[in-house]
Amino acid sequence: MQKYNSLVIVGAQWGDEGKGKMTDYFAQKTDLVVRFSGGDNAGHVINFNGKKHKVTIIPSGIFNKRVINIIANGCVVNLTKLVEEFNIIKNSSIEHGKLLISDRVQLIFPYHIKIDECQEEAKGSKKIGTTKRGIGPAYQDKVSRIGIRLGEVSDPDFKEKFKEVYDYQMKFLKNVFNQEPLNFEEMYNDLISAYNLIKEDIIDCGSYIEAAIKEGKRVLFEGAQGALLDIDHGTYPYVTSSNTSANNVSIGSGISHKLINTTIGVVKAYSTRVGQGAFPTELINEIGNGIRERGHEYGSNTKRPRRVGWIDAVALKHAIRTSGLDCIFITLLDVLSGIDELKICVKYEMNGRELNSIPATNFKYEQCKPIYIDTPGWAEDISNATSFDQLPNEAKNYLKLIEKICEIKITGFSVGPDRNQTVVLEHLF
Ligand code: GDP
Ligand code: IMO
Ligand code: MG
Repeated sequence: MQKYNSLVIVGAQWGDEGKGKMTDYFAQKTDLVVRFSGGDNAGHVINFNGKKHKVTIIPSGIFNKRVINIIANGCVVNLTKLVEEFNIIKNSSIEHGKLLISDRVQLIFPYHIKIDECQEEAKGSKKIGTTKRGIGPAYQDKVSRIGIRLGEVSDPDFKEKFKEVYDYQMKFLKNVFNQEPLNFEEMYNDLISAYNLIKEDIIDCGSYIEAAIKEGKRVLFEGAQGALLDIDHGTYPYVTSSNTSANNVSIGSGISHKLINTTIGVVKAYSTRVGQGAFPTELINEIGNGIRERGHEYGSNTKRPRRVGWIDAVALKHAIRTSGLDCIFITLLDVLSGIDELKICVKYEMNGRELNSIPATNFKYEQCKPIYIDTPGWAEDISNATSFDQLPNEAKNYLKLIEKICEIKITGFSVGPDRNQTVVLEHLF
């Protein structure tokens, strides 16, 4: 079978695993970087040359001059926000790559954001804890077939069609949430202003990406969120509204799954979660607080403190299966320095029964207690390590244990936020 130069990078936990850092790192050797799902609910932080950069909807390959970055059809896009984000990059002194956008992305409008806010408020204590970027309502409209694709903006009857959808949305907001109407002309004009700035960069992404892969170009697919936030395979209903898993690469970018070669799962050396939902290994204590401070575990997008817990091998195995991971890359290993004893969750106990998998409901998942194995931690600062051999024995053992328990190869690890604080153990790309 033919081998292609295609690599998928997805999160294997509840998001914020360091996908942005890993994508930026591998993008240095890449021709195309493709974001295939999610919207500006993502927050991907990238550090190089002593500076920190953040992207939400623009692919994390943007900071590499020779990379063509594509926002593919599986994404939902707030066009005004996209233009603002790209302007910040363009107006900085950083060299950046090209940006192209699929004609099939679904657009996010102010009414999606308003509905997201109202739905969350109405749920009260049962709220999801969304990022309030309108992501759920935009995907909802896609499935209801009242969403608007970017390619439709240039249709001659677009304004009338948009007005029909707007009228429906205003009725919904009034009747269900008693909200006053939003200004249609303002919304339309904002859309057209943003559209005019990007219209030359709109493509049919599937055929573009397919041609690139078949020509032998290196193509990297960047995931957003994480496997446990997947709408089908995540910890429903406390999930996002798209398929975040690697299986969605082909649907989300319009190519055959046969063109995908290698899939890496990015795994934080511990676990974090933002928003509500069961979290069996959560640490509500000094160890958790210490990890949060050392790892700067505050959402880059919403600034919320992230919930912190031990690494969870049951959740990781779930991600390995649902994303078909070939290997994993461990990030934020440096943050664990200084903890006497580390724990790895290997099973759950639920009402006297041992479980090796995640139950289907949050009610049952809340009842799962982690069963741990313990392993000694290390005191040394490892942020300058450039090889596996330079790690303390305890850190080596920790990685080996994860490999053994999860039955998957660790292909590298990261010991700090900077591009250079990355150790690749196996050549992938
Ligand atoms: P993403 O959403 O998966 O791209 O992850 P985020 O960027 O939201 O969160 C990961 C955070 O950890 C960012 O602030 C990164 O700069 C930082 N980071 C990534 N890798 C490492 C690492 O190995 N060590 C440390 N200390 N920080 C890291
Ligand atoms: P990156 O790509 C962490 C979470 C939200 C909430 C749930 C639903 O940076 O890893 P949504 O706004 O998508 O409807 O919120 O999903 N969530 C994330 N958590 N990292 C993310 O992205 C997330 N994107 C969404 O906190 O619990
Ligand atoms: Mg993030």
